[in-house]
Amino acid sequence: MKRVPESEAIAEPVDASRFNEVMGSNRFRQADYRRLAHRAVDMGIPPGGKVLDMGTGPGFVAIEVARLLRGTGYQVVGMDLSAAMLALAAENAAKAGLNGVLSWREGDVKAMPFDDGEFDLIVSNDSLHHWDDPLPVFDEIARVLKDDGRCIVHDSKRLQHWWPWLFVKTISLTVPRGFRVHWWNSIRSSYTADELRAILGRSRLADRGRFYGVDGCEVDMPRLVKGAKWTFGWAVVGPEREIAIPPEAWDEYGFQAGDEAIFTPGSRKSGGFGISTSVLMTEASGKMGGTNLHELGRSRFGDGWVVVPPEVGAKSGDRLLAVRGSCYGLGFVVRGPIYEEALKHPELEVFA
Ligand SMILES: C[S@@+](CC[C@H](N)C(=O)[O-])C[C@H]1O[C@@H](n2cnc3c(N)ncnc32)[C@H](O)[C@@H]1O
Repeated sequence: MKRVPESEAIAEPVDASRFNEVMGSNRFRQADYRRLAHRAVDMGIPPGGKVLDMGTGPGFVAIEVARLLRGTGYQVVGMDLSAAMLALAAENAAKAGLNGVLSWREGDVKAMPFDDGEFDLIVSNDSLHHWDDPLPVFDEIARVLKDDGRCIVHDSKRLQHWWPWLFVKTISLTVPRGFRVHWWNSIRSSYTADELRAILGRSRLADRGRFYGVDGCEVDMPRLVKGAKWTFGWAVVGPEREIAIPPEAWDEYGFQAGDEAIFTPGSRKSGGFGISTSVLMTEASGKMGGTNLHELGRSRFGDGWVVVPPEVGAKSGDRLLAVRGSCYGLGFVVRGPIYEEALKHPELEVFA
């Protein structure tokens, strides 16, 4: 399906108000905003860091980010081309009692009114499909983001077949009848993952040697293969079969030194194994109707590392790719498409 572009700014006050009203009162959308804010903040920001929400509209994501960072000295800026949207964003922030943490700035994502390297984290939701040409925007992100900054640009993707439309039409029942057409137009004007991948490859984000994955229409890092798992980096098995756990994964899965590490088998396609804990296993068992995950062996976590029990079959010197396997355990894969793709990315971190 060919892309049918929409206008860039939602500039008319009446359109901005309608958007604010519909999205502000839709609990599914609000849950999406909260989820995205959590994901963005979980990517990590240094203390007192600065966050930008590009194409902030009525400020929903910026507000959720500010809620998470409240009282910690962070600054959150919401930027939009539409003055009408920014006025609503300021009202929403005042209602949420967050005006001190948040500020609003009128500007175009193609030429942002910010200094080089000003931001530690950039987030954007549902704005990308309005951008006539994402290339200069990606270049601008590369400019205003710190070298070790993080970015997540989230949007819908254009559908290529008729059958996902049935799903979209069903979901759209949660949106008021008169507003549904805007939603469908957004999907028609969205980019496909392949289009975005090509544009990213030509942008300054690629020049900086960063790797940005594209899935659906989310531009993020580091997801290596379309539809694949998130990648933390490499772990090399040490002489005593010890492996370092990437710190991000350590925090995400709530591992603690001294706790028992439970090893589970990897998938047939990717091999390797998963590392879980009794807490995560209990949750998994609940969600799987009481079925227990198969166990290969157990050991105890050290401080940021764990020894792989002999039954698991890992050998000293093995290179394992650490991936976000599932919410039940951290995955370490040894083959398959994601592993092959990872071999082509020297920028992936090695944890040892
Ligand atoms: C569909 S709304 C999404 C708003 C908000 N991010 C959300 O998730 O609720 C898209 C927003 O992107 C803004 N926008 C579109 N093109 C822009 C550009 N070139 N520069 C800045 N903002 C832009 C529009 O004005 C609009 O507020």
